[in-house]
Amino acid sequence: NETIYILAIESSCDDTSAAVLHNNKRLSNVVATQKIHEEYGGVVPELASRAHQQNIVPVVHQALAKANIDKKQLSAIAFTRGPGLMGSLLVGTSFAKSLALGLNIPLIEVNHMQAHILAHFIEEENTKKPAFPFLAMTISGGHTQIVLVRDYFDMEILGQTLDDAVGEAFDKSAKILGLPYPGGPLIDKYAQLGNPKAFPFPKPKVGELDFSFSGLKTSILYFCQKKVKENPNFLVENRDDICASIQYTIIDILMSKLKKAVKQTGVKRIAIGGGVSANSGIRKALVDAEQRYGWETFIPKFEYCTDNAAMIGIVGYLKYKKKLFSNQDISAKARYVL
Ligand code: KG4
Ligand code: ZN
Repeated sequence: NETIYILAIESSCDDTSAAVLHNNKRLSNVVATQKIHEEYGGVVPELASRAHQQNIVPVVHQALAKANIDKKQLSAIAFTRGPGLMGSLLVGTSFAKSLALGLNIPLIEVNHMQAHILAHFIEEENTKKPAFPFLAMTISGGHTQIVLVRDYFDMEILGQTLDDAVGEAFDKSAKILGLPYPGGPLIDKYAQLGNPKAFPFPKPKVGELDFSFSGLKTSILYFCQKKVKENPNFLVENRDDICASIQYTIIDILMSKLKKAVKQTGVKRIAIGGGVSANSGIRKALVDAEQRYGWETFIPKFEYCTDNAAMIGIVGYLKYKKKLFSNQDISAKARYVL
């Protein structure tokens, strides 16, 4: 009859988030999204850390209030140590250290990439948890990774991007088409109205299970520039077909890597996470693969796909049970390999 209350803090990129977990259940998960970056078409690190400083206290207060928990009841504080933007990580790290010191409770450092994967273990009705071993694919604006997960803390990176993340590939393609940032969801929306085979784009030639998206972006750019020269209205007239073709190419790349990973490991349980998990194309492809290849696929609630503190909290809970605590001399780590 354990009763562990974890306060978790996430500030690795442009979202300030705090969550309270009771064992493996989420009591609250507050996310303050920073709107400021939209007008720059991407995250500006200096503005992000300043916004974290403004947001962190109210966000933590809200998380405690929504959970109906007094801070004196907390068992430990978990925080994102890395990877991420140094200035952003420092805000959450310093805050977590001070609070743990003040309350005299354990401090637990969390790797953000591990948290994206272990988010699958947050207790939720109507959500099944993957059994070990499974393959995790984390796809977002900052990450593209395939990981073999043998146990909670026994993970091996099988492949990752050598340049842009898949979310960036969506967003940069959208920018070429004149769509606002972040353009991923818009490409998805228009893709559903278009012909995915209208314009074939080349798939990158990159070894084994790694990814590369910068070449695809360049070929989309050159293609659009050439077509616009012939017809200034080309992008407007063919928006849906272009979006469908871009999405088809990206999903094809992701699925062919997953197929390779399954072949290499013999593991047919696939768990995805990260903001790009919202994409309708990848969701359809995974459902299809369940029938076609006998895979078992897992997608967490969307609130646990995008950056959030609840996923930091579940790692905090799992580490708390193993007494994996950190000292006060710990510091943020911008490049923190899983
Ligand atoms: O996980 P996330 O919220 O933030 C991080 O990057 O860590 O992911 C955001 C990314 C953006 O690149 C956004 O365009 C992409 O996820 N995204 C999508 C969709 N929804 C979000 N990309 C394609 N289709 C979508 N439906
Ligand atoms: Zn993330």
